[in-house]
Amino acid sequence: MNECGEVIEPGESSRFAANGEEINAIQEQAAREGDHEVRRGFHNKAHACVPGTFTVRGDLPSEARVGPVFATPGEFPAWVRFSNGSPFVAHDLAGDFRGLAIKLVGVPGPKLLAGHEHATTQDFLMLNNPFMAAPSAETFMEFTRAATDPDRKELCLGDACISDTLFTYLNAPGHEDTRGFILHRVVLRLIGTLRDQRFWSGSTFKFGETTMRYSVRPCEGAFKLPGFRNDYLRRDIEGHLRDDEICYDFYIQLATDPEATPVENASDEWTAEESPPIRVARLSIPPIDLDRCHAVEDFCNGLRFNPWHCAPEYQPLGSINRIRKAVYEASQTARDGRLQEPDGSETIACEP
Ligand code: HEM
Repeated sequence: MNECGEVIEPGESSRFAANGEEINAIQEQAAREGDHEVRRGFHNKAHACVPGTFTVRGDLPSEARVGPVFATPGEFPAWVRFSNGSPFVAHDLAGDFRGLAIKLVGVPGPKLLAGHEHATTQDFLMLNNPFMAAPSAETFMEFTRAATDPDRKELCLGDACISDTLFTYLNAPGHEDTRGFILHRVVLRLIGTLRDQRFWSGSTFKFGETTMRYSVRPCEGAFKLPGFRNDYLRRDIEGHLRDDEICYDFYIQLATDPEATPVENASDEWTAEESPPIRVARLSIPPIDLDRCHAVEDFCNGLRFNPWHCAPEYQPLGSINRIRKAVYEASQTARDGRLQEPDGSETIACEP
């Protein structure tokens, strides 16, 4: 085990490179099954991709004032992308993880990702569940192969569907925990709006001398349900943003001890009892008329959100994060994602 609590398996980096090629094959398969465009290996369907502001609070306790984002109070421009988790585009009612990706711009200091050491971006990627279905990179890939098998058939009960290959995988001995997780937290979980969801990093990051996980929760309370059309999650955001802002509070949880807040096991939740969340910032998305801002969304969707776009103080940890370094690069190269990170000088106007 290294000083951050990681257990690095021999030969894992060449396995992760091969996993990147598997993700490329899924992207090609999704293109064949969809509109023939190669898109993201996961989180293909975007609901909205918009500018926002990330404001670091002025009253942070000293243990939270770490690294170039949180050391001092201040404001960063941000790009924010809402998505469904699947590599395939489906009706929003289909059970899925939902994603929230934030890219801060103007963050000073060196960065970790090779080729982007001088970028001023810092990314935070989250899913609407506090922990992962799979504890490790290897089990995540097993599960992915079962869920995306090119010969899979959909088994549906009403609107709740699951592929037969994933169903077989989940019913194999030893997969009981994953089965419970997928059925209850994904397949049977219908959401009405992204504006009332909480999102979590689900995996662990350095935080100076310690480690942390991060999450957001909506600043305000309940919302009314929209209609249930194919893209009702986008229609909800689009309708709301016409006049109002969307706002989430951003929290970190600091490691307490290796049992309660492990680094390698991403299917272990860091509960609020084990590590109370500290509110450190607010993400605000100001009103925007998305009907007139296609160029803004095109630019945002072309960006490369990647947890490895980060300051060394927030290095991603654990095998679930180490595999992401190879796999996001593979997916982003295949889809020809915008190589240059934004630096705040971009002027992308909405139509009049
Ligand atoms: C807790 C762990 C994880 C979280 C919170 C997470 C979250 C996300 C989010 C929010 C996105 C969408 C980014 C965007 O909007 O552009 C994304 C994209 C993606 N994720 Fe993950 N993810 C996790 C683990 C993984 C793992 C283990 C893999 C594969 C082994 C993976 C593969 C991908 C790929 C291929 C993309 C698309 C990259 C691109 O082309 O831009 N993710 N992830």
